[in-house]
Amino acid sequence: MQQLHSPIYPNGLPTLEAELLPILDQNYAYLTELIVKNAGFLPYDQWMQAVLYAPEIGYYSGGSTKFHTAGDFTTAPELSPLFGQTLANQVQQILLQCGEHNVLEFGAGSGALAESLLIALNDLGLNHINYSILELSPSLRARQQERLAPYAGQVRWLDHLPTDFVGCVIANEVLDAMPVHLVQRDTDDQVLELGVAVNAQPSAHAPSPFVLVGRPATGDLLSTAQQRLPHITGYKSEINLQAESWIREMGLWLKKGAALLIDYGFSQREFYHPQRATGTLMCHFRHFAHDESLILTGLQDVTAHVDFTAMADAALTARLEVLGYVSQAHFLLNCGITQLLEQLQMQLDMANPRHVQSWTQQVSAVQKLVSEAEMGELFKVIAIAKDIDPPLIGFMMRDRRDFL
Ligand SMILES: C[S@@+](CC[C@H](N)C(=O)[O-])C[C@H]1O[C@@H](n2cnc3c(N)ncnc32)[C@H](O)[C@@H]1O
Repeated sequence: MQQLHSPIYPNGLPTLEAELLPILDQNYAYLTELIVKNAGFLPYDQWMQAVLYAPEIGYYSGGSTKFHTAGDFTTAPELSPLFGQTLANQVQQILLQCGEHNVLEFGAGSGALAESLLIALNDLGLNHINYSILELSPSLRARQQERLAPYAGQVRWLDHLPTDFVGCVIANEVLDAMPVHLVQRDTDDQVLELGVAVNAQPSAHAPSPFVLVGRPATGDLLSTAQQRLPHITGYKSEINLQAESWIREMGLWLKKGAALLIDYGFSQREFYHPQRATGTLMCHFRHFAHDESLILTGLQDVTAHVDFTAMADAALTARLEVLGYVSQAHFLLNCGITQLLEQLQMQLDMANPRHVQSWTQQVSAVQKLVSEAEMGELFKVIAIAKDIDPPLIGFMMRDRRDFL
C-alpha cells in the first residue's frame, strides 16, 4: 500500500468547540475499528458511506443543523420558496402527462422543497398530490415530518425504492452526496484505488489518525477509470459508481414519468479535464469549504461534483431517455422564475418596510440562484424520463445535451 496523503488543518477552518471533541474521538475510534476489520484498507467509497451515513457516527445520521446559515451549507430550496414554486411549473407539466399526481423526492433535507412544491402544486390546481419522500437519514426524516405535518394527508415516507412508480421524481443535491470511489494514476500510468488506513506513525499534531493510501484498482472500477482518467501521473479524481447504478435501477421502477436531478457538476470532458488534476471532492463545515475529508469525521459534509455524462449514459443503458440538460439558471428562467418574482412584487405593499425587506431578500436569493458567478452555471438540471413527450418547458432554451 502506498501512503499518499496525511491530512493537515486547512487555513481558516472554524474552531471546533471543546464539547464536540469527545464526539470526534468516538468517531475516530469507530472508523479505526472499521479500518482494522477491513484488513487495514477501507476503500474511499466505504469511508464516505461511513462518515456520512453510518448510524453510529454519520454526518447525515446525526442531528446537527446542516442546512442554512446556522449549519454547514445552504441549498437552493433553503434560499427561497421561489425555487420550489418555479420547479412546480415543470412538475405540473410532467404530472399532467402521467395522468397521476405522484411526486417522489429523494433526500428531502429539511423538507423546504417539499413544502414549497406542495403549496405551489395545490395553487396550480393539482389536487390530491401524493408526495413520497425517500430519506436515508432518520434525523432528517423526523425534521421533515415535523415541518410537513400540515400536509400529513398528502405526504408519506418510503423505506425503500418503489417497485412501480408513475409520476415526477425529484432529487436536489442528492447525487453529490452519494459515496464515490477515489482513483489516481501512478508513475507507471496504472490506476490506484484510494482508501483510508490508520496512520502507523501518528504525529502529536496530526489533525486525525488517518492517512490516504492506494492499491491497484481492479474490476469495474479499473476499467471505468482507464476509460475516463487522462494519462497524467498523479491525476486524481472520483468515480460515482453508486449514482450510476441508482440511475440504472430507476429504469426498473420508473414506469412512466420524469426525474429532475439538480446538482453541481459538469460533462465528462470537463469533469476529467487535464487541469482538474486533484478531483472535485469538497467538505463543508460551518460554511467553510475545503478538501480535507479525513478530518472532522461525521461533523462535516463530504461531497463530490456530478459527472452528468455518466448519469446520462446510465439512463440510456437502462432504456430511459434524456429529455434535457441545462444550467440551473436556464432551467429556472425557462420555468418562469422572473414572472413569479414580478407576481410577488405586485402582491407586496412597498410602503410597508417589512414587505420591502422580504422583497429585497427574494431578489437577492433569485440573483444567487441564477447568477453565473454563484449557483446559476455550476448547478445543472438533467431530465431523465420514460414515456414522456418532449419538449419539457424547463429545457426549451439552451439545452446542452450535445455537450454531454
Ligand atoms: C446535500 S443534502 C440535500 C438535501 C435537500 N435535497 C436540499 O436540497 O436541501 C443530501 C441529501 O441526500 C440524502 N441522500 C443521499 N443519498 C440518498 C439516497 N440514495 N436515497 C435517498 N436520499 C439520499 C441525504 O440523506 C440528504 O438528505
